[in-house]
Amino acid sequence: MMIIERLKSIPSTQDYIKKYIPKRQNAVVVAEEQTAGKGTKGRTFISEKGGLYVSKLHFHEFLPAKDCHQIMVNTAMAVVKTLLAFGVDARIKWPNDIWVNNKKICGILTQNSFKGEFVDYSLVGIGVNLNNDIAKEIVDIAISLKQATQKEVDGQAFLLTLLHNLNQTSLISDYKAYNLVLGKQITVCKDNQNYSAIAVDILQDGALLLDNGEKLYAGELNVKISL
Ligand code: BTN
Repeated sequence: MMIIERLKSIPSTQDYIKKYIPKRQNAVVVAEEQTAGKGTKGRTFISEKGGLYVSKLHFHEFLPAKDCHQIMVNTAMAVVKTLLAFGVDARIKWPNDIWVNNKKICGILTQNSFKGEFVDYSLVGIGVNLNNDIAKEIVDIAISLKQATQKEVDGQAFLLTLLHNLNQTSLISDYKAYNLVLGKQITVCKDNQNYSAIAVDILQDGALLLDNGEKLYAGELNVKISL
């Protein structure tokens, strides 16, 4: 059983949904706007009306901790499949930003909790620019689905398609095929150091392999692409 709770305005669905953790209740929380949306690496995520802000809490039964990258793969591919169904060609900027026309349309935040050798629960947050205007400060790097398709998007239909796709398992080969970093020169910002490398592969465990032999894992690092 899964609960779906819809709210008009909330600081962050990602915080709000945590109330279901002690009850071990699978849940989805959807907000029309967030006043303190959370991004990766402690950043804020601008979350104005017209966008879609969803958090999903899922208790896993037998997902080995070593396979936890599958959560990111499934989530990123669910967003890609949903955007494809709504008529835009979306790509993944490793590890989990979704881009359309070389601009970010969606950000994903995944937080996993482990119990021994297994994933206990995952908390996945998805913020999609649907019909919202893009804030001035990010207009060069962000895009909405409305801008990309030149028409108002049916938010309810988008949400239902996304929730359906989130229940599907995706292959790492698809996550790789839809990634836009492969073969590109990227700038890696890690431990306060910046360096350039070419992204050559995405491995079975979701790691990004660089031409210098290094394997990057999603986390406290930042990858920029020069397109
Ligand atoms: C990023 O691009 O840095 C990740 C953004 C994740 C935003 C979503 S919106 C729903 C959920 N609630 C939050 O506060 N953040 C996530």
